[in-house]
Amino acid sequence: MIMSSKIPSHVVVLILVLFSCTEHTHGKLIMQGSAGFVKGFRTLTSTKKHTYGQAFHDEILQFKNSNGTMTSFSVTFFFAIVPQHKRKGSHGMAFVISPTRGMKNASADQYLGIFNKANNGNRSNHIFAVELDINKDDEFGDIDDNHVGININGMRSIVSAPAGYYDQEGHFRSLSLISGSLLRVTILYSHKDTQINVTLSSPEEGYYPKKPLLSLKQDLSPYFSEKMYAGFSASTGSVGAIHYMWVWFINGYITVPNLDLGIPKFPSYPITKTKVALIVLGTSLALALFAALVASALSLFYYKRHMKVMEVLEEWEIECGPHRFAYKELFKATNGFKQLLGKGGFGQVFKGTLPGSNAKIAVKRVSHGSSQGMREFLAEIATIGRLRHPNLVRLLGYCRYNEELYLVYDYMPNGSLDRYLYGGSSDQEELSWSQRFKIIKDVASALAYLHHEWLQVVIHRDIKPANVLIDDKMNASLGDFGLAKLYDQGHEAQTSSVAGTFGYMAPELMRTGRPTTGTDVYAFGVFMLEVSCGRKLFEPRAEPEEIVLADWAINRWENGDIIEAASERIRREYDKGQLEVVLKLGVLCSHQAEEVRPDMATVVKILEGVSELPDNLLDVVRTEKLGRWYEMYGKVLDVEVTMESGGNLTVTEPLTSVGR
Ligand SMILES: *[C@@H]1O[C@H](CO)[C@@H](O)[C@H](O)[C@H]1NC(C)=O
Ligand SMILES: *[C@@H]1O[C@H](CO)[C@@H](O)[C@H](O)[C@H]1NC(C)=O
Ligand SMILES: *[C@@H]1O[C@H](CO)[C@@H](O)[C@H](O)[C@H]1NC(C)=O
Ligand SMILES: *[C@@H]1O[C@H](CO)[C@@H](O)[C@H](O)[C@H]1NC(C)=O
Repeated sequence: MIMSSKIPSHVVVLILVLFSCTEHTHGKLIMQGSAGFVKGFRTLTSTKKHTYGQAFHDEILQFKNSNGTMTSFSVTFFFAIVPQHKRKGSHGMAFVISPTRGMKNASADQYLGIFNKANNGNRSNHIFAVELDINKDDEFGDIDDNHVGININGMRSIVSAPAGYYDQEGHFRSLSLISGSLLRVTILYSHKDTQINVTLSSPEEGYYPKKPLLSLKQDLSPYFSEKMYAGFSASTGSVGAIHYMWVWFINGYITVPNLDLGIPKFPSYPITKTKVALIVLGTSLALALFAALVASALSLFYYKRHMKVMEVLEEWEIECGPHRFAYKELFKATNGFKQLLGKGGFGQVFKGTLPGSNAKIAVKRVSHGSSQGMREFLAEIATIGRLRHPNLVRLLGYCRYNEELYLVYDYMPNGSLDRYLYGGSSDQEELSWSQRFKIIKDVASALAYLHHEWLQVVIHRDIKPANVLIDDKMNASLGDFGLAKLYDQGHEAQTSSVAGTFGYMAPELMRTGRPTTGTDVYAFGVFMLEVSCGRKLFEPRAEPEEIVLADWAINRWENGDIIEAASERIRREYDKGQLEVVLKLGVLCSHQAEEVRPDMATVVKILEGVSELPDNLLDVVRTEKLGRWYEMYGKVLDVEVTMESGGNLTVTEPLTSVGR
């Protein structure tokens, strides 16, 4: 979402920040009343009591088509309120859509700078507002002193709710509007559904609530003109409060620029004037300091512009995604990229330690010359950085330097799963059945989260043992999502260069080049078979009927017992019920017909023993063996795979990964 080419350059922002106190018109935001800046942060109010401040976008916005049909709209903004005292007494703020650029002759205190006693509730106001109220005003029927409300034409909310959000389980969790930390409000109006949804959330929670805090069925068209202004208003009462405004977006466009990518830490309530008066003597010193500040800020700007040659920060990256690391920081953390952990399909991985926290990190260096695709990829990282699940490797941040992209992850001490899986290497202890079963369940729950439980569907695109990382307690975490997509960009027409790994790619992915949740399920099916059998899907040197693991499992299943597909070592200590379910589910998920594969939510239920496998499964899976598909696949890969009349394969060249 949310990029604009209209963001002013660094220098404009710098000047805005430095000279905010004298000039109240800031590019595209008109600040009125007590609106200004506190320590460089934009605020709607100052320490003045009983005043109000407004900040409005200077351009008039279209809310109706020329034929008078209301359009849908979306607004997201970030704010924080720092009260003078951590007790009641001050007033809140509101997002406002109004026929005028700011409200003239409004009142402070309980009117929030939007209405006054005379016009409150008048139908001719044509004002829509979402209030974040920190005072309980009985005259307007307020429910408490920490609530969110939807208001039309007056201070009495049509609906309101205590401030908070619904978590992933649907439980209400309250948030304090005066905590001083950054909060996010999203307002969605769908004209088709004539519904307004308001969601309050804390960006630090990492996920966006599915269920809105407020949902109001209301056609807004009678209240809106064709064109209206949008902005914010806030007021103070006998107790002060600073209302910080951070970034806001309307219909996906950023309207308040902000250079800082991290979550800001807002200054505490400023000390009052009387205290300041005591240090008049220090004024000359302050002036000198100010001059020094201007000088250093300007030199910082030149430094930054110079650095831009190598350290790329593009306008569209200004988004609230994951943390952006400085190259210098990563260079230091990895001791100059000395300790190589491994080399994956997409680049090298280095071990590092973050200075300060001593947290161990893994830094992946991916070279990518063209910035084509990079933009979409980074938009996706912004998404990925907000994903939180115990079985997903956490992406801590990224850095772009020269032609390279650096991705910073949590460090996983036991490396990737492929090192443990296939036996063979003597220095690795082989996994027990219960460890294997746990790993399968861990990865399944992470994948179900990506497919079903997040704000949008995230497709992993490259599920395989090498992308599953193991921590010191042998818990498994899925890593490397999104990277396959980066390599897909610009290759879509050529099916031969679809990214992914041979053997884990579903037949339809080879044909269409379009990854789906179904292609992820396919790869997960193969993964389940490999982990539970302790061998690779494709063993060119095996007995002909055993070359393709999935076919071999079906073969054993037809002949009596599917469990014989697993290695002897596993069969010595397995739990028969579990192994049988995992193998059958693996065969089902890696079926070449997409419609036969279950979705990940179902897979998790079956693994947890909540649901059971369907009846007559063997009839479903045995219709067509995988061998036929490998024959077709071989042609694409330029290797010879032939299937004999009995359904067995011969391979004349070893197969490797595709598309790299
Ligand atoms: C008004 O215009 C929009 C497109 O601009 C169209 O989708 C809609 O059907 C029109 N409504 C009427 C009542 O003509
Ligand atoms: C301004 O608002 C006050 C009430 O707060 C009202 O008495 C006065 O008439 C208003 N003035 C204008 C010009 O609307
Ligand atoms: C509403 O406002 C209009 C215009 O300002 C005014 O003429 C009218 O009397 C007001 N109505 C009420 C009920 O106060
Ligand atoms: C608003 O919320 C309701 C209830 O959660 C949901 O069904 C609806 O799709 C939402 N509408 C929009 C426009 O987000």
